[in-house]
Amino acid sequence: MTAHDVTSRVRPWSDPDLPVARRAAALLAAMTLQEKVGQLHQVANPDPERDAAALAAGTFGTCIVASGQHAGNVRDTGTQATAVNDLQRAAVQTSRLGIPLIIARDVIHGHRTVFPVPLGQAASFDAELVRDCARVAAREATADGVRWTFAPMLDVAQDPRWGRVAEGWGEDVWLASHLGVAAVEGFQGGPDGGDLAAPEAMAACAKHYVGYGLVQGGRDYAEVDIGPITLHNRHLRPFRAVIDAGVATVMSAFHTLDAVPVTAHVALLREHLRDDLGFTGPVVSDWGAVGELRHHGMAADDGGAAVLALRAGVDIDMVTGAYSGHLARLVGDGVVDEALVDEAVLRVLTLKLRLGLFEDPYTDPSRAAAVHLTPEHRGLARRAAASAVVVLRNDGVLPLEAPPRHVHVTGPFATATGELFGTWTLDGRAEDVVSIAAAVSERFEGTAHQDRPTRVTVDDGRFPDESHLRAREADVVIACVGEHPLRSGEANSVASLDLPPGQVEHLEALARVSRRLVVVVLTGRPLALERLAHLGSALVLVFHPGVEGGHGVVDVLSGDAPASGRLPSSLPWTTGQVPLHHDHLPTGRPLHPDGPEGRYRDHRDTAQYPFGFGLGYSPVTYTDLVLSATVLGPGEVVRASVRVTNVGTRPVVETVQLYARAHVSTISRPVSELVGVRRVVLAPGEQQEVGFEIDQHVLSHRDALGRERREPGPFTLRIAPYAGAGVTARLDVVSSPARTGTTGEGGGARLDPIDR
Ligand code: BGC
Repeated sequence: MTAHDVTSRVRPWSDPDLPVARRAAALLAAMTLQEKVGQLHQVANPDPERDAAALAAGTFGTCIVASGQHAGNVRDTGTQATAVNDLQRAAVQTSRLGIPLIIARDVIHGHRTVFPVPLGQAASFDAELVRDCARVAAREATADGVRWTFAPMLDVAQDPRWGRVAEGWGEDVWLASHLGVAAVEGFQGGPDGGDLAAPEAMAACAKHYVGYGLVQGGRDYAEVDIGPITLHNRHLRPFRAVIDAGVATVMSAFHTLDAVPVTAHVALLREHLRDDLGFTGPVVSDWGAVGELRHHGMAADDGGAAVLALRAGVDIDMVTGAYSGHLARLVGDGVVDEALVDEAVLRVLTLKLRLGLFEDPYTDPSRAAAVHLTPEHRGLARRAAASAVVVLRNDGVLPLEAPPRHVHVTGPFATATGELFGTWTLDGRAEDVVSIAAAVSERFEGTAHQDRPTRVTVDDGRFPDESHLRAREADVVIACVGEHPLRSGEANSVASLDLPPGQVEHLEALARVSRRLVVVVLTGRPLALERLAHLGSALVLVFHPGVEGGHGVVDVLSGDAPASGRLPSSLPWTTGQVPLHHDHLPTGRPLHPDGPEGRYRDHRDTAQYPFGFGLGYSPVTYTDLVLSATVLGPGEVVRASVRVTNVGTRPVVETVQLYARAHVSTISRPVSELVGVRRVVLAPGEQQEVGFEIDQHVLSHRDALGRERREPGPFTLRIAPYAGAGVTARLDVVSSPARTGTTGEGGGARLDPIDR
């Protein structure tokens, strides 16, 4: 009998040839109650020496590497494979059962190579790009020993006052679902849950389950009220999508939903998540949220909080210590059923086994140097940064094709480096960043303009009078303004969506003296840019773009990269309009699209720039919307296609969007629902037919019990460059199979004015 056979008999959970479920069950059967409870406790930043006794006793099963007191969103000294290996060695070699730890960290939009904030990645409307960014983040983070990330965030964010809008995919449910799935596939190393044991794969975590994007007034952590139909059709949908795609873990959110904190919400965590969405992996609480049940007025002490959270279905207590401090006693006293503990522990053990940690808990310390910030990763970051750039207005100044004589770059973001990262950047280094000013110099300085080399001057706007002097001399001014990353992200809500104080005045003064002023706004949230509506020659919005932000922005300004970014959230004219999103419900008194009336006495109703909007450098027309059939029966597929034509002189990447509107249904459905996106590259003068396949599932909704409803009735399909524009056709959904001829408005594109 070999040593392996002996170990497998004594410790069957170590036998890789046995099925995971059997290994997990065998291990559970060998555990004491204290050891089980330990697996449900996550600590922050353990130290192998300081915590030697706890590691030997198996007092905690996972840890988060973070340095904040209240969350992981605080810069720290980083993770290192050697430190992680020391911890694993202590857990595996000194504890009775040798159970490895799961090392977690918030790897939100890159690790050492920092990509645009998720909202910026969403502006690409490009699932492949998002998947690649997550894959690189996982490759780099796993090289530091991190095997679990708390991403992606799937909260549908309709109120940009909420700072966490930066961390997600914007206002739209379809986009959040598709990009969320792409991120999960990237982190976990493939579709259908990936292969978590692969050395470059990490467990993803769908957060914050659920409805967090609707916190009242945009105030972080505040209460939320959502009815069942909205919950199923809007907020649960991205979670359903990633669970179907095999996401490994879910994080419960901080807030109360209809007066019950999610951390203690039995219906959400058991009925919806387990029974309805079919999730089988572990649920982790948000940071300290189990203990916070006391502040919610739900529990008198941590013991009471532990009972509520475990019963509700929270498997892992992130950092409170309520489970580790109380669960064993509560089971002993008969207050908590040990079966509940077992169920949670099995989920944690199963994840550890799927991650291959029992086979190899260690990380090769030489890997980090080989994979961090490679030229290939930088190249991807540069492409992603360019995709986070949305051109909102352009009088023709962009792209800056002919080398300008003198470019002046000004504003707080001109020379910024680490600020380009955006929120939730734990491992990026400011010294890796090329600023926008440096990228402008690199691109233009010395390029000949009628035999005179281009001159680039730079200031950061600290002395606006100096900026104005330079601006007067320059023939192009690039003003880089916007909000500091500390103004978005967790616990960073704002009451006003205006630019930070003083910036508009600075821009107005620049506009008075500049020949051509390009305003670049860098931000972590959708802002209200009304005062910039007519200011300068071009207006460009960039969601914090990451380590290659300088290059990415200049690639688009210069035309080296296409202007392909599109808005993943509507931009309101003014803060008082929010929440404002394209997929709102109709009222009983619809406004006439061309009429003068509105709901506000003092402002317009519509967005300044709608969802999906962004200008390319060549105009594109949408014509000849054709349906393969006008009637769609069950089991049938209709193809809707449109002709898109690049009528300009530059290549474009066009984001073709399909929207649907149901006119008669058992619930009132949104005036516009995004149901498909296709990105196509068009050479100057090129036409393409872009098609979408539509079946009844695509057009379905869910009822108050979460059941899919495929209802007959008339629909309007709209294929468009952004919400509310484009060409339309009618499709009738019927309850028995049917087929007829083709239809469509044909003829010219009807592009509504963007402010309706
Ligand atoms: C945040 C989570 C994060 C966790 C761990 C919390 O405060 O809400 O998004 O994953 O901290 O850092």
